[in-house]
Amino acid sequence: MIQPTAAPFYLDCDTGIDDALALAYLLATPRAELVGIGTVSGNISAAGGARNTLDLLKLAGHPDIPVAIGAHDPQVGSFHGGAPHVHGDNGIGGVELAPSDREPVEATAAELLVQLAHKYAGALRVVAIGPLTNIAEALRLEPRLPDLIAEITIMGGAALAPGNITPVAEANIANDPEAAAEVLAAEWNVTLVPLDVTMTNVLEETHRQELLASEHPVSQALGEMLGYYFGFYVDIFGRACSAMHDPLAAAIAVRGVELTLAPTVRVEVDTTSGPSRGQTVCDLRGQYLGFPDQRGARCRVVLEIGEDFAPHLLGTMQAAWLSEEELTAPVA
Ligand code: BDR
Ligand code: CA
Repeated sequence: MIQPTAAPFYLDCDTGIDDALALAYLLATPRAELVGIGTVSGNISAAGGARNTLDLLKLAGHPDIPVAIGAHDPQVGSFHGGAPHVHGDNGIGGVELAPSDREPVEATAAELLVQLAHKYAGALRVVAIGPLTNIAEALRLEPRLPDLIAEITIMGGAALAPGNITPVAEANIANDPEAAAEVLAAEWNVTLVPLDVTMTNVLEETHRQELLASEHPVSQALGEMLGYYFGFYVDIFGRACSAMHDPLAAAIAVRGVELTLAPTVRVEVDTTSGPSRGQTVCDLRGQYLGFPDQRGARCRVVLEIGEDFAPHLLGTMQAAWLSEEELTAPVA
């Protein structure tokens, strides 16, 4: 049942270590009620991401949330095989979770999103933390989708920061630029959480140790997964730590963190075949005037948040799971 203060959320993901963190956060925060999850190929295949998602939901004690497999291939070309050097061969750093005996639902991720958009008309919020293939497909299935959902928050792109997969493109957008272009051109309230803000909010080894020391199995599993993820980031940050792309997008979607610089501007995606393919071209020319209103602008681009994110992320999980333990503890 939806808590009075919790909004219904659909999560679209490519689970993925930081996707797993985002999922755990959304399950833990009292501000969200996850009503459906779709997967897309990105860090791992859409089918592999669904397995990871079902296993994580089992570990977290949420066996009822429907999980749908989405697009295997992007709109142009085919799935590149994932990012095992970042997320491990199984997408979650080689961590073996107890397998869930649940199957994904029959609907595709795009179909599930459309169903939920009708069921929670005007209230559903979407968090997309993988390539945008399913969201673009849902827009084609139901052209009224922008009127049916309350808002969409996307982890993706790079406004002024360099890309992470090419010099200018971020992975989620670069993995399906045509889909991203369609989604960002649709007439809905979009918040983009780009590398500018996700690469400047990191999780340190001390935070990982906190997760490992927790009594909760999800925290422990996340701590183990992060060991693999930190290994990838050593070459980027020069120490064992990691960016927090997807959980930051989830926290922004639930209004869990304060935004200190997030102008609403025009954003276009480069779908040409040149070196800037997949770039999010954000019109930030208004920065010297404090970003005055821009004609045709509807994409809020988060450039800065007002607090250190890691304590909020860990604190939200601890608070939820501590109270869960208290509730299930035998009465003395
Ligand atoms: C994004 O790409 C994926 O590897 C991550 O899960 C995140 O969604 C960062 O560029
Ligand atoms: Ca992701």
